[in-house]
Amino acid sequence: MKTIHIVSSPQVRADYARHVVPSYKRAETAPVLVRGQGTRVWDADGKEYLDFGGGIAVNCLGHASPRLAKSLQEQAAQLVHVSNLFYHPKQAELAAELVKRTGPGKIFFCNSGAEANEAMVKAARKARAAEGRFEVITTLNSFHGRTLGMIAASGQERLREGFGPPMPGFVHVPYNDLAAVEKAMGPKTAAVMVEGIQGEGGVIPATAEYLLGLRKLTRDKGLSLLMDSVQCGHYRTGCFQSYERILREAGKKEEFLPDAVSMAKSLGGGFPVGAVWLGEKLMDVLGPGTHATTYGGTALACAVALEVLQIIEEEGLAENVSARGEELKEGLGKLAGKGWVGEVRGFGGMVGVRVKGRPHAEVAAQLAGRGLLVVPAGSDVLRFLPPYNVSRQEVAEALRKVESTL
Ligand SMILES: Cc1ncc(COP(=O)(O)O)c(C=O)c1O
Repeated sequence: MKTIHIVSSPQVRADYARHVVPSYKRAETAPVLVRGQGTRVWDADGKEYLDFGGGIAVNCLGHASPRLAKSLQEQAAQLVHVSNLFYHPKQAELAAELVKRTGPGKIFFCNSGAEANEAMVKAARKARAAEGRFEVITTLNSFHGRTLGMIAASGQERLREGFGPPMPGFVHVPYNDLAAVEKAMGPKTAAVMVEGIQGEGGVIPATAEYLLGLRKLTRDKGLSLLMDSVQCGHYRTGCFQSYERILREAGKKEEFLPDAVSMAKSLGGGFPVGAVWLGEKLMDVLGPGTHATTYGGTALACAVALEVLQIIEEEGLAENVSARGEELKEGLGKLAGKGWVGEVRGFGGMVGVRVKGRPHAEVAAQLAGRGLLVVPAGSDVLRFLPPYNVSRQEVAEALRKVESTL
């Protein structure tokens, strides 16, 4: 017999206060979400929301995708996890699919974005260890995760506060500033790591000149170029990788291939899985015993990630998110200058709006009150991160909700 649980929002919030580590800034009125379907979610009180936060760029297929649920069920009934001391076909298949879409290389599987970046940085450091090169140049305002290594890598001082001495080996320079990267390079430099679009920093895309310049600079000096594609990758911009989207606009897509690309978030469509693609220069650096994680590339995670890719491809979702994203950007652009709506930027399903005159968290809470979930970023930006299968009607509805707050 099916048990029906009656959920009380105040009770859930009280239980969080009592039993959950308070490391997340949840608004006191943040909804208690109990159910989702496509772009919509419902809270415990029956209120409906359009979810343009997508679990922070994770739910690329929206909520409760029947195909994803089916693949989860089928794989769970067959094989969930085996040790990486053995083989299983799903990991091989997913690695091949990711390599096919990125470039010649190999994949290391893990469980999250921070872990993917850790593996990427470890590979870059190991590749040059014999020469005493270990430093990685990253950018101010960047976000690479919350492990001790990645808070040192991230270009935000506040992430490191209170955690003792940061891990050495990271140098931070302004974003989209090629001269600053060149100036920071020295005898200890091993690599440069950037986001194609700074996400947590406030949806700030790299320019095509910057990306091409970074590629040339690192190649000329024999250094690795590492792309943190955890948030902006996996078709979020309409292209598999954000750098492809940025360079496509400039007609230079074919001229760029980094040495490594980290992935997570949309890779599993909500199921936790991370991966890093290592190009030919780095793909064999992490030999036996040098790096590992128990759950990396489980049969279940890989089956789900494969299904996510298949759905995106079969249902034309890269094209859809690209087109709907343009409609969203255009609609928000028309509101720019009115009320709190400032500059609008981004590509596809990753659109940022600068909030003027009011705290961005306050606007996010107001939008939630009107049934639209978005995610704050940086000091004054709201992120719109709809699923790739968002409809034209849902974009129009979201725009009407934004307009109603002006
Ligand atoms: C660009 C980028 N890198 C890394 C991470 C860390 O990913 P995770 O939270 O899965 O560790 C994030 C998360 O927001 C991110 O946006």
